[in-house]
Amino acid sequence: MKILIVYATSEGQTRKIARFMEEVLQTDNHKVVIADATEEPPSPENFDAVLIGSSIHIQKYHSSIKDYIMKNLDELNQKHSAFFSVSMAIASNIEEEHEEVKKVALGFMEKTGWKPDEISHMAGALKYTQYDYFKKLIMRMIAKKEGGSTDTTKDHEYTDWDAVRSFALDFANKA
Ligand SMILES: Cc1cc2nc3c(=O)[nH]c(=O)nc-3n(C[C@H](O)[C@H](O)[C@H](O)COP(=O)(O)O)c2cc1C
Repeated sequence: MKILIVYATSEGQTRKIARFMEEVLQTDNHKVVIADATEEPPSPENFDAVLIGSSIHIQKYHSSIKDYIMKNLDELNQKHSAFFSVSMAIASNIEEEHEEVKKVALGFMEKTGWKPDEISHMAGALKYTQYDYFKKLIMRMIAKKEGGSTDTTKDHEYTDWDAVRSFALDFANKA
């Protein structure tokens, strides 16, 4: 199957997840094209299935992913498609945080009109070494509240790679 993966990222974790899915799907004998939403990604037209992913920053997905979806809405709604949302809230042990981030995703679908077959929530990473002083302070505060690591001397990854693998393979098998 020909699969397109389009992603949007700030600190690189969503790219890492997208590349991992690319590898998993290629190993499963699919043809995969992967593209950054900010770099003129191809239209879904010539693909059998499309995976779109974005991280959340301040309760919002990237505008580049929104623009891509809006531009290709009719095509996307006719394809087998799924959205993967990357956030820290989903790694929290507070259930309300999960509900909050799920609401953000559903609101995004309502706003864009995209009806993916599936929405998957994936835990991202705290990239303290990439944040500036204020970002580091804010993220440390959020991490403290949500049960993430407050050790700002290094990065902390919360992505469940087995779950990402299962998601990608299930998606391809359902097409
Ligand atoms: C400035 C900033 C704001 C963030 N806002 C949120 C948020 O509102 N909700 C959330 O769940 N995670 C939030 N996060 C966590 C990111 O979603 C998480 O770090 C993710 O791994 C980033 O993925 P990326 O590297 O692909 O951009 C935020 C992170 C940063 C640095």
